[in-house]
This record gives sequence, C-alpha cells and structure tokens, in this order.
Amino acid sequence: MGSDPSLPIGVFDSGMGGLTVLAELRRQLPGERFIYLGDTARLPYGTKSPDTVVRYATQASDQLVERGVKALVVACNTASAFALDHLAEHFAPLPVYGVVEPGAAAAAREADASGVLVLATESTIQGGAYQRALTALAPRLPVFGRACPLWVTLAEQGPQDRALTEPVLAHYVSGFVANGPRTVLLGCTHFPVFREALATVLPTDARIVDSARTTAAAVAAELRAHELLNTDGSGQCRYLATDGVARFQRVGSYFLGGVAEINAELVDL
Ligand code: DGL
Repeated sequence: MGSDPSLPIGVFDSGMGGLTVLAELRRQLPGERFIYLGDTARLPYGTKSPDTVVRYATQASDQLVERGVKALVVACNTASAFALDHLAEHFAPLPVYGVVEPGAAAAAREADASGVLVLATESTIQGGAYQRALTALAPRLPVFGRACPLWVTLAEQGPQDRALTEPVLAHYVSGFVANGPRTVLLGCTHFPVFREALATVLPTDARIVDSARTTAAAVAAELRAHELLNTDGSGQCRYLATDGVARFQRVGSYFLGGVAEINAELVDL
C-alpha cells in the first residue's frame, strides 16, 4: 500500500445510499477522515448497462483519488458488482473495497437451509454477482434474487409516510413471504433506510442483513494489517455531490441516522 495514514478514505455511491456504509465506517473507524461523493446527477446506476456503470464509477473514483485518499470504498452494490475489478486495476496500488463480498459473507453467516433472498437493483440482480458470491461461500445454499426498481427513488425522497412505503415494499417481497427464505439481504446500500418498515411486511422470524457492518470491518482489518489506521482524524467527512447539494444536505442526514452536519459541495465529473 505504502500510503499516508493521515489521508482520508474515499467513499462513493450513485447518491445517498452509500451514507449507510459511511455511518458504519465512522462508527468502526472513529479516528479516520472521509470524503464522500454522491453522484446524484446520474443516479440511478441500478438501471444502467455494465459499461456505463464502469465509466461512471471510474469518473466518481477519479474525483476522490485526485483529492488524495489512502483507500477507496465502493459503497454501491451496482458499482461493486460491475466495476470493482476495473477500479482495483485502474487505481492500483490504491486499495479498493466493494460491498458485495462483505454482504454475501454477512448473509451466509446468518442463513439457514431456507436460503437467502437478495433484494437489489435491477442491474445487480441481472448481473448475478450476489448469487455467485453466496454460492462460492455456501454451495448448497438456495439463493433467490428480487430486483426492487422503485426503492432507490423512494429512499432518495427521504422519510415518507408508512402508508406510502409499506405497500411498495410489500409488493416486491410478497412472493417470498410464505415458505420463502428467512434471511433477507439488502443488496443495495439505499435499502437499510427501509429496515424497520420492511420488518413489518416480512415474516416475524425473517433476519434482515446488509453489507455495511461487514464492509467496515473488512476495511478496518485491512488498514490495520497495513499500518494505515488513523487515530487522529475524529471521523470528519467532506461531502461532494454532482447535483442538488441542498437536497443532499436535507435528505443525507436521514441516511446517516439523523446526523445533521452535512455540508455538501457541488462537483462536476
Ligand atoms: N446504492 C446503489 C447500490 O447499492 C444503487 C442505487 C442506484 O440504482 O443508483 O446498488
């Protein structure tokens, strides 16, 4: 790695979803500094072709790398599914971490014989990255995938009345409620904001997991192993967005679990 431990960690997503990963990174790595980029001008990534996702992810990463980062966290499942290998090669020797493998590891750990239901964007489900990652970890585990195309837009709207949210959530999971898999993996970083509402439309014994905690743990372990941990940074974060900074500031705190200190700068990729 050979980088400077005092440099920030770069984190990006198509929009605000990656803030759910950032929140966990800050919880597990309180001494680090971060730069977060939300590519709000081009959201959603989850309906785009693999080539477009790779191009957007490279441009978003460039913005962070230009500002000086010691590691890059791809806090977007769609970009992790399609662009992780490209980013790792393109930005080598900078360490680049995705969320798909940590998410699969979290789900495989929780799963019983009923299997795992992966809820994600259209592109992530079609690309099959989670199905492959889960099968590699647990070859006999039944894996089901469900694309939830409206959820990213709904999440980006900020907090909504349950009367609106619950029917939209229920629509996509209803086919899996009776005798379905009991482990539900939120394979999109926007979806953790629906965790409580989702619990009300899933069976009471369903276990809902996401990739935030395991991703942050993997990043922490890697930084520690390479003596790149920072203990002086006090978790401060600089926020960049490619559109709608006022909106980003307003809705972003919802994704960060109520933190109100977001002050975003507009950047052009
Ligand atoms: N948050 C991104 C993910 O984890 C996707 C949102 C989008 O479609 O842009 O897949």
